[in-house]
Amino acid sequence: MEVLKTRALRRSACAAARFWRSKVTPKPPCRGLSTTPARSTVMPAWVIDKYGKNEVLRFTQNMMLPIIHYPNEVIVKVHAASVNPIDVNMRSGYGATALNMKRDPLHMRTKGEEFPLTLGRDVSGVVMECGLDVKYFQPGDEVWAAVPPWKQGTFSEFVVVSGNEISHKPKSLTHIQAASLPYVALTAWSAINKVGGLSEKNCMGKRALILGASGGVGTFAIQIMKAWGAHVTAVCSQDASELVRQLGADEVIDYTLGSVEEQLKSLKLFDFILDNVGGSTEKWALNFLKKWSGATYVTLVTPFLLNMDRLGVADGMLQTGVTVGTKALKIRPVIDQTFPFSEVPEAFLKVERGHARGKTVVHVI
Ligand SMILES: NC(=O)c1ccc[n+]([C@@H]2O[C@H](COP(=O)([O-])OP(=O)(O)OC[C@H]3O[C@@H](n4cnc5c(N)ncnc54)[C@H](OP(=O)(O)O)[C@@H]3O)[C@@H](O)[C@H]2O)c1
Repeated sequence: MEVLKTRALRRSACAAARFWRSKVTPKPPCRGLSTTPARSTVMPAWVIDKYGKNEVLRFTQNMMLPIIHYPNEVIVKVHAASVNPIDVNMRSGYGATALNMKRDPLHMRTKGEEFPLTLGRDVSGVVMECGLDVKYFQPGDEVWAAVPPWKQGTFSEFVVVSGNEISHKPKSLTHIQAASLPYVALTAWSAINKVGGLSEKNCMGKRALILGASGGVGTFAIQIMKAWGAHVTAVCSQDASELVRQLGADEVIDYTLGSVEEQLKSLKLFDFILDNVGGSTEKWALNFLKKWSGATYVTLVTPFLLNMDRLGVADGMLQTGVTVGTKALKIRPVIDQTFPFSEVPEAFLKVERGHARGKTVVHVI
């Protein structure tokens, strides 16, 4: 990979175009193969030009089309994307310094400058172009992915990803449904399996507590833990209790009724606690773990970037995609609301206000 990267860096834009392989007719827009000057080929996208509140989101018809710079890259036409808390955080500038250190200058419009920046991590769409080293995908394939946060995002017509970051979309899911899953699925799966050490082999009968069970991560986590045979206690507000029970939760604690800490004292201790809420929970949650070395408490709330790297997309779809894809066949996507592409700012506001019941999805085309 390093060798390929070094070689690719040496190539001119023209030579880089030879990495492309396209089997669809008519050809999708591909700048490097075009005789048109590169910067005249554009696409619609939502971008930000600076960090800030929701007003910084700007719609443009003139975002540069992504280019394949490495032979393992793929251009995906985005059909649906979803909004995660990380998008709201990134819009506000959180993690910018760390993310800028990981950004690839070849994929940045201005050297050393991340703007205009497209947000959006989740995508479900169709492969339009493949680099020559891409073996498992071809133009026309339906795929889904969680795009790493240091890359340009998915609130745009096209996005470029590495071949190892995408998987074939399960046919049983629509693009809207599929776009609701990758980032929360990778996050929940990584927290439960990679950090918690739980899998279908050892999860049977384990007691799990999910704090913040009604949101994007929680609704996925309940289902994966139930699929693996765990006993799940879900903490959410009263109006979400029916939803989490339908997803399989065995016990539900309504945090609006009073102290969760007090309510938990009447229950048996837990083997695994997934914390999607943070704050005061981090002070008392450890008290409710069983006293054995395998019992684990995982918080997704702090520190944000550390967790993102440790639990999130850094693992890549290559490693987890098959597992997630297989499980997704049994997973019910929980979609709170779907927005048209013209209403991306409204979708951000919805996620920012909180109180999610599953995911907020954007229908791009
Ligand atoms: N999405 C990801 O893939 C991802 C990745 C890494 C880290 N994280 C972090 O993990 C956390 C959860 O992410 P998410 O995507 O699931 O967020 P989300 O979709 O916004 O869901 C949060 C859920 O928690 C509920 N909630 C709020 N206060 C609560 C409390 N005190 N007790 C129980 N439930 C409470 C909210 O509903 P009510 O307010 O109506 O109760 C909502 O349903 C966030 O801090 C996020 O930054 C998420």
